[in-house]
Amino acid sequence: MTAGLSTRRLRFVLLLAPVVALAQLPPPPPLQPLSPPPVPPGNPLTPAKVNLGKALFWDEQLSSSRTVACGTCHRAETGGSDPRSVSGLAGATAPGPDGTLGTADDITGSPGVVLTDAGGAYDEAAVFGLGVQVTTRHAPSFINAAYAPNLFWDGRARTTFLDPVSGDTVLFAGGALENQCTAPPVSSVEMAHEGRAWTDAAARIAAVQPLALAAFIPAPLQGWIGTRRYPQLFAEAFGSSDVTPARIALAIAAYERTQFSNQARIDSMIAGTATLTPRQQAGQGLFVGSGCAGCHAGSLFRMPAIVSDTSPSSNGRRPASISKRTTPKAQMSARRSTAFPRACSGDI
Ligand code: HEC
Ligand code: HEC
Repeated sequence: MTAGLSTRRLRFVLLLAPVVALAQLPPPPPLQPLSPPPVPPGNPLTPAKVNLGKALFWDEQLSSSRTVACGTCHRAETGGSDPRSVSGLAGATAPGPDGTLGTADDITGSPGVVLTDAGGAYDEAAVFGLGVQVTTRHAPSFINAAYAPNLFWDGRARTTFLDPVSGDTVLFAGGALENQCTAPPVSSVEMAHEGRAWTDAAARIAAVQPLALAAFIPAPLQGWIGTRRYPQLFAEAFGSSDVTPARIALAIAAYERTQFSNQARIDSMIAGTATLTPRQQAGQGLFVGSGCAGCHAGSLFRMPAIVSDTSPSSNGRRPASISKRTTPKAQMSARRSTAFPRACSGDI
């Protein structure tokens, strides 16, 4: 009987423990307005460069096939990720680590291009045959990506930006976006024919009418482009008309640095121009009270820092200690946590 009671008491104590822990959580510091993301001194933001980057980001002509833009997989209207990436959809499914489609470890990714040789002839891809290939990871958002010190799920796009042709250092630090940008235009899954060099991509851009295939160009961007072609746009943005791979990356990254989410209702609340609805207030109370805010901290609601297993076999998964969520401290330093969707800063 005594044993029974103490077990019951123990259960009671265990049940109560989290509640007590919650009650003792110190209130988080008041939210601050979201500051714009950092800009590396070597790639200052100018209106011309941002406009140029915007045109390049949305221009399908950056791909060999002229069918895929950065914005094909990263869509602002769906939070900056890919709405085509639907779990279980054949055209959005790639094999997992076992290399075989149709097995339990399959991955939901983004459709890219059909495997093509340099002459434009279709090649048969091992997994996808003559079909459109699918990325082996899910596309994260480009909105708010500028806050992360390293990018990609495994953090391999690091801070120092090297010229993709010469290998020279262009930005010593703060260039993860530029670095990231050097991958898709030469990836034979995402945007390129096999063996495409970055100089091919730059030569294509130098030769085409900006956004010639776009169904819709916002009036301010169209007004800025006018009747000019890319070399003239590069001349305005960079001082000379050379269309180089590094400049393409610098311009796209400059545009991405303007894409941050500082116009959600929570921002108006912080600015004192709106109040949260009672439901939103209740949600905020729960968010803080149940400990979410401990990790999803600050004005971005995300955790800082990057740690991840970058070995090729890991496919960007976090170390087991982090995935299992057993060690909050390790999680605090997890590579990139994710911001909650917030309304974006205006002009996408
Ligand atoms: C075919 C689809 C596709 C295209 C096209 C594409 N991306 Fe991505 N993007 C992805 C996927 C998938 C990832 C994640 C890859 C990884 O982690 O290895 C990604 C990652 C990123 C990230 C990193 C975000 C983060 O939080 O780590 C940025 C930024 C980005 N892409 C921007 C671009 C830009 C700029 C272009 C054009 C030059 C582009 N993407 C073209 C699918 C695509
Ligand atoms: C111990 C740290 C920790 C706590 C506490 C925590 N999270 Fe998270 N959360 C994470 C990490 C790490 C990720 C990213 C996981 C990943 O990318 O694999 C994440 C991801 C998320 C995401 C996905 C965001 C996206 O863009 O995909 C949501 C939503 C989320 N958390 C909500 C919550 C809520 C609600 C709570 C409280 C009930 C909470 N989290 C508590 C660490 C935490």
